[in-house]
Amino acid sequence: MCGIVGYAGARPALNIVLDGLRRLEYRGYDSAGVAIVGTELLTTKRAGKLANLEKALADEGNAALGAGTTGIGHTRWATHGGPTDRNAHPHRSFDGRVAVIHNGIIENFARLRAELEAAGVEFASDTDTECAAHLLAQALQGAVGDTPGERLADAMRAVCRRLEGAFTLLAVDVQAPGVVVGARRNSPLVVGRGVGENYLASDVSAFIEHTREAVELGQDQVVLISGDAIVISDFEGNAAEGKTFHIDWDASAAEKGGYDYFMLKEIAEQPHAVAETLLGRLNEHGDLMLDEVRLSDQDLRDVDKVFIVACGTAYHSGMVAKYAIEHWTRIPCEVELASEFRYRDPVLDRSTLVVAISQSGETMDTLMALRHAKEQKARVLAICNTNGSTIPRESDAVLYTHAGPEIAVASTKAFLTQLVACYLVGLHLAQVRGVKYADEVAAVVAQLQEMPAKVEQVLSMMEPIRELARDLAEAKSVLFIGRHVSYPVALEGALKLKELAYMHAEGFAAGELKHGPIALIDHGTPVVCVVPSPRGRGVLHDKVVSNIQEVRARGARTIVIAEEGDEAVKPYADHLFYVPVTPTLLAPLVTTVPLQVLACEIASARGHDVDQPRNLAKSVTVE
Ligand code: F6R
Repeated sequence: MCGIVGYAGARPALNIVLDGLRRLEYRGYDSAGVAIVGTELLTTKRAGKLANLEKALADEGNAALGAGTTGIGHTRWATHGGPTDRNAHPHRSFDGRVAVIHNGIIENFARLRAELEAAGVEFASDTDTECAAHLLAQALQGAVGDTPGERLADAMRAVCRRLEGAFTLLAVDVQAPGVVVGARRNSPLVVGRGVGENYLASDVSAFIEHTREAVELGQDQVVLISGDAIVISDFEGNAAEGKTFHIDWDASAAEKGGYDYFMLKEIAEQPHAVAETLLGRLNEHGDLMLDEVRLSDQDLRDVDKVFIVACGTAYHSGMVAKYAIEHWTRIPCEVELASEFRYRDPVLDRSTLVVAISQSGETMDTLMALRHAKEQKARVLAICNTNGSTIPRESDAVLYTHAGPEIAVASTKAFLTQLVACYLVGLHLAQVRGVKYADEVAAVVAQLQEMPAKVEQVLSMMEPIRELARDLAEAKSVLFIGRHVSYPVALEGALKLKELAYMHAEGFAAGELKHGPIALIDHGTPVVCVVPSPRGRGVLHDKVVSNIQEVRARGARTIVIAEEGDEAVKPYADHLFYVPVTPTLLAPLVTTVPLQVLACEIASARGHDVDQPRNLAKSVTVE
């Protein structure tokens, strides 16, 4: 949600900042802008995607912009003020001295704006961010420090002490060339340490082609970067240290690699991603290894209830996890939308384990749910894809999914790897608590280890899905049904279609259809039916086959995803797609894949930007 880049060094900043923005555009694409400091401070910004800004820069052909060696850039997901040129970042202060970019929401901005206006400041935008620019210019007048950069950092600290809400801010000052100052509270900001140059960005993908050495900032910290220094302090001015880490994925991980869309690439990467999540998880004693554990086995034995909190696709992975965790551990497990969790006063105590699932590790709703859980003394375990992000940092234990960067806004490989991580958590809990023996856990892990090949097999059979997608491109609405673990898969299939194709799509528990939604079925309504395995829980299978017959009898066009060899569904399937034979609880790892491909292809056939659907952003850092 808003991408932010800063550069200080010896090279011309503009192209470095633009390259960084290109890699961060998935975080928001309502507008883009840059501020470059050379002999003067120059800003250019445009509504719309980065391409509009690039065109404006080319039209301007301003050599001074191209020459400055200090710069900041922003790609916006609008909150306060519409997506217009005037609301695009950077925002300049009333005296033109500083330029500021921002990610987050300044909650007390109305009060601050009124105060500034009373002092005679005229606003040039409707944003909350502009307050920070004016306050910074005011604070600079009384700022202390031996150098202009130190005074900018001092002023930034003074401003941050006045701000409420969540924010990452970057600022440049025409009187402090060579310096970018950043600040963060509840919103991401990471430092890239180069040689003779340093970077600031919302995430490492912005600077990975220049450096693999990064520094994680803590909460409520201000950082000053110049070509040869990184100076961190808290908001009071006390010196602080960041945590240095090495980025081990290579720059090509954030490139399309020959695919038309990042989403297609990320769908194709799923077998590898699933394998990565599983890699090295069992030690020589058969114990499951988490990445960071600040919980003892005794803490886990004391758990008497599990709450899973997450949003969107991650929430669907949590819904699947509930079936596995309850089945394997016999501990009650509830799944809740993170945005609802803390507002209903859930019953939590130190025997509650809260599992927070988040690809980005920055989703504000999930972060707030986590903090609420911690206030109630619950233990928190994070399942996350982004190393060093806020959610894992604030949790008691962490299981990273190691899926690699997910750039497409719609989540695909993150979902599959979240499922795998949830299975591992369930197995770990079961083993620690003695509900399952090591060899039983190992048997399930062995089944999991077969999943990358099965996902690969599904991917090799996608051509008929692509054909069907072209045929469904004009449909008004698509319904999805499933039972048991296929119910969250149905919800996920519908979510993908809504967000990518902007089509009406709904997922239902197949058994609920008759309680109302079946009225939606009309002649030709496409209904995607995710059918459980006929083996094992045969009852479940037979019930879904009955549900398929019910919708078909009312005119539905049935699109059936079933297990290889399932002959019983054949008579009722207008379109039938088989997936490999898989244990029931693990089936979402294969049944979700055709639904991802279906949504991606329908969206593409409708002419949409698959990677950057309208109104969305990858990392949702506001509540
Ligand atoms: C849908 C999608 C979103 C995210 C949700 C949570 O394709 O990507 O629904 O799953 O915003 O994001 P994270 O996992 O980053 O917390």
